[in-house]
This record gives sequence, C-alpha cells and structure tokens, in this order.
Amino acid sequence: MLVGVKRETRAGERRVAATPASVRQLMKLGLDIAVESDAGVQAGHDDAAYRTSGADVVARLGHVDVLCHVAPLTPDEASALRPGTITVGFASPAAELPTVSALAQAGVASFALELIPRISRAQTMDALSSQSLVAGYRAVLEAAIRFPRFFPLYMTAAGTVPPARVLVLGAGVAGLQAIGTAKRLGARVSAYDVRPASADEVASLGGSFINLDLDAIEGSGGYAREMSQDRAARQRELLAPHVAASDVLITTAAVPGRPAPLLVTTDMVAGMKGGAVVVDLAAETGGNVEGVKAGHDVAVPGVGGTVTLVGMKDAASAMATDASRLFAANVANLVELMTVDGRVVPDFNDDVVSAACLTHDGRVMHQPTAALLKGVP
Ligand code: NAI
Repeated sequence: MLVGVKRETRAGERRVAATPASVRQLMKLGLDIAVESDAGVQAGHDDAAYRTSGADVVARLGHVDVLCHVAPLTPDEASALRPGTITVGFASPAAELPTVSALAQAGVASFALELIPRISRAQTMDALSSQSLVAGYRAVLEAAIRFPRFFPLYMTAAGTVPPARVLVLGAGVAGLQAIGTAKRLGARVSAYDVRPASADEVASLGGSFINLDLDAIEGSGGYAREMSQDRAARQRELLAPHVAASDVLITTAAVPGRPAPLLVTTDMVAGMKGGAVVVDLAAETGGNVEGVKAGHDVAVPGVGGTVTLVGMKDAASAMATDASRLFAANVANLVELMTVDGRVVPDFNDDVVSAACLTHDGRVMHQPTAALLKGVP
C-alpha cells in the first residue's frame, strides 16, 4: 500500500507529517512511501534525505492509499480523494466543518489526531501533547526575547538583579512545559489552573500553585469544563493582583471544542508594570487575554510604560524540526497500530482507532462534530 506525505500549503505551516526516520519506520511495516517534493524542507529535511530513507519523492502526489498531513485538509483537497482513502493528521473538526463534510462525502476514512484518547496506550500517538510541549517551550522563549530584563537572579559586583516573576495560567501540557522552561531560565514561577489535579504537577516542576477560593472545574477525561459567567468574573477578580505582580504572563487555557476562556481583561493588563510581556498561546482560538491579535504584538498601556501582548500563532511550527520529529512519530505510530501484514486496515474494535476516526463510509463518526454539522450547538 502506498502512503503519501503531503507538502503543507497552509500559510505559516512549516511542519511535515513524516521525517526520514518515520519513513523508515513505515517502510519496515511493508508500506511504500511517496513524499511530495520539498515537503520537509522547512522542517530541515530535503528531498535527498527522504530518498536515502527509501521513499519516492514526487512533484505532486497522485492517488495514495494513506495520506499523511499536518494541517487540516481544505474542502477541495478532501473532495479530490478517492473513496476508501485513509487520512491521518490534524483535522480541527469543530473549526473545519466544510472539510469534515467533504471527507464524509468523498467516502474517506479520516483519522484526526485531536481525537486520540488521552489514555496511556495512546500516548505515543498523542499529537496534541507533543505539539503543546513545543508550544509551551516556545512561548517562554518568545517572552524572554521581548522582556527587557533577565529571567534569573544575578548577584554581581554592580548590584543584584532580581529574578523575573512568571505567571502561567492554564497548567495543561503546554502550561507545564512553560513552567519548566521558565524555571530552567531561572525565573520565579507561579501558576493557576481550574483543575486541582494540576497543583501537584506545578509543584513538581518547581512552580508555586495559586489557590483561589473557587470551586474546581473538572469535566470528563481530565479536561476543564466551561464555567459560568459569574465564576469567570470572580476568577478574574481574584487573579488580578497576581497578574499585576507578574513580569511575564503566559496563558494557555483551553476548553475542548469551545472558544478559549477570557482570563485577563484590559484592566488587568493595565495593572502590570511597563516592560511586562504577555504571551497568549490561545490567541488563535479567541485568546485568553483581551486585546491580543494572533500573529501580532500589540503594545498596551501598563504602569509606567507599555506592556507587550504577544498573540502566538503557529507556535509549534516555529520549531518545525523538533515539532515534526514528534508529530511524524505520532502519525507513524497510529499508522502502525492500523497496519496488519503490510496493509493499513483500521480495526474499529480498537478503542484508539474508533475514537480517532472522524469520518468513515460516508458518515461522520465523531458525534460532537456530527451534531455541530446538524446545527446542534
Ligand atoms: P487543554 O489544552 O485543553 O487546556 C489547557 C489547560 O487550561 C488545562 O489544564 C485546563 O484545565 C486549563 N483551563 C481551562 N479553562 C481554564 C480557566 N478558565 N482558567 C484556568 N485554566 C483553565 O489541556 P491539555 O493540555 O490538552 O490537557 C488536558 C488534560 O489532559 C490534562 O488533565 C492533562 O494532564 C491530560 N493529559 C493526559 C494525557 C494522558 O494520559 N495520556 C496526555 C496529555 C494530557
């Protein structure tokens, strides 16, 4: 069976769904691989590297049995696929409904990496985690290069430089990575999350968890739930002094299938010191911070100077080589799970395979997405 690796076309997408190493993993399963020319070039892999690993490099992919991609396909790309084609990649189902319809109509068996269940057996396929790890790390570096001060404490002959105070809101995979990275740079780090389970994880990375006198909000599968307007307002009120005291604020809060919750208002930002930097990793899904613009820096008034709001966009793509290394491994591991005797044949009795399946046999298999397509909110 032929596995195709797409050259990504979405603006800002630098990652690739297979690396020479993952090509070798797939070939060992008895699969043939065709890589679209220049697919890996922005991630540090030229065509020659793919050829050396045993793949065919083609100017344009023709029909393939399995199509590996990073960004969601466009509706046109989905419609052009033959019935029975298998696709593996991100699908952003809630945001890309026209593509989901096109995949179903084309009779494609599409597997969305966002739908991989968060269970131990599926960790090697969990691209949300692998890419959040990259994004959390990157968010801190973006803050550090804009911040006009050091992160670590320095005691020098010329005087003492105090450490930066970094506040992380949302301590999931990206937030924990941000905490660890900021700690390694020497900052004093605190964090808050609506899930109380995250308190121990924050502490284990050397951060201090902020306990607000509020109910915990934990939904199914270890994810956060959307909270009431009242609780959100009270949370903002209680967080305001912590935001004001921080030099760097990193926000990563998300609720699956929903716009990002607003955690920080313009008034809260106005209480931060001049020179402070805010990096919003949720900027592309509405933003945790009022006034952020995805892909842009915005200067807003703070106390005695301006505060820089950084609307992170394509955070994982900015580190395309390692992001692709991890993403490609996630893709190859899912394909491997579905491969028997050199053929990719999804076993829908496997709970990882069935959970990750977005469309199959002309139907939308993921029920929340099917409901959205029927206009049910
Ligand atoms: P996410 O990207 O959906 O959200 C990021 C964080 O924002 C979460 O920790 C969430 O609780 C927090 N959040 C949501 N609303 C908030 C609010 N209003 N204020 C403050 N924080 C808010 O989450 P992610 O990073 O994908 O992880 C979700 C869960 O899945 C976590 O419990 C994580 O530990 C778990 N997980 C389990 C894995 C496994 O077992 N294999 C692998 C990866 C994650």
